[in-house]
Amino acid sequence: MKKLLIPALAALIAGCASKVPEAAFGAAPLEGPPPLTVVFADSSANSPDTWLWDFGDGDTSSIQNPTHVYDSTGSYDVTLIVANSFGADTLTRASYITVGELGYEKVEASGITLEWRVDGTNLDIRLFAPTRGWVAVGFDPTTSMKDANFIIGYVQGSDVFISDQYGNSNFSHEPDADAQGSNNITSKQGQETGTGTRISFTIPLDSGDPRDRALVAGQTYKVLLAYGPDNADEFTTKHATKTSVNIKI
Ligand code: HEM
Repeated sequence: MKKLLIPALAALIAGCASKVPEAAFGAAPLEGPPPLTVVFADSSANSPDTWLWDFGDGDTSSIQNPTHVYDSTGSYDVTLIVANSFGADTLTRASYITVGELGYEKVEASGITLEWRVDGTNLDIRLFAPTRGWVAVGFDPTTSMKDANFIIGYVQGSDVFISDQYGNSNFSHEPDADAQGSNNITSKQGQETGTGTRISFTIPLDSGDPRDRALVAGQTYKVLLAYGPDNADEFTTKHATKTSVNIKI
């Protein structure tokens, strides 16, 4: 009886605590723009008492639940080595953390491509249309073109012209700066390609300008899209093509 009990007890004890650990972990967030602060959480089994993390960017830590900041864009493998007096175990999660620039959302309508992303309190826009004339976007009209926050641009040689305007009637627009408003566009860029015109710019979500529509991240808005004929390197010729989309900002 005694002979049987002792090995059975030993096996039971071994089954509980006397085991090599099994490495397991999670982290949050798994992706985002740099600098990305990631909190790692150990969930290894069998009571490890040492931890060695390799974050994949040259840094390591021996804390059980470390926080690590990734400064550079890239995809990172994360390795955790856990150990106790019975042995060690290693888990590598390949390409576990992705550090990248903020992605753009995209919609295409009538040959026009609109891309946008919210960056803090700003809205970054990229607009492409198949014309060598003007291209434009108009946020949140009340009726037809009225009250929309228009941004209209064209490219002439190496010069980029982008104007902050608003819909002053159902069928017309004028520069914000002509009325009580002002120009609120930053970081203007543009180029004419073989297939059309591309402009990119940044506007505040809420400029405070009475001639701009205040936009709230997460809300859905009607957005007007249009472009002028090939020779319309100015802001006044009527559209060759117009359309509208609803987008969630
Ligand atoms: C440059 C001077 C412009 C003139 C003279 C003009 C004129 C008009 C007119 C007369 C209409 C009524 C429908 C039609 O006749 O086609 C209209 C509608 C429209 N316009 Fe313009 N427009 C101009 C600029 C723009 C710009 C810059 C945009 C930029 C996105 C735009 C987008 C639209 C859209 C989407 C509609 C349809 C609106 C709706 O019915 O919901 N327009 N425009």
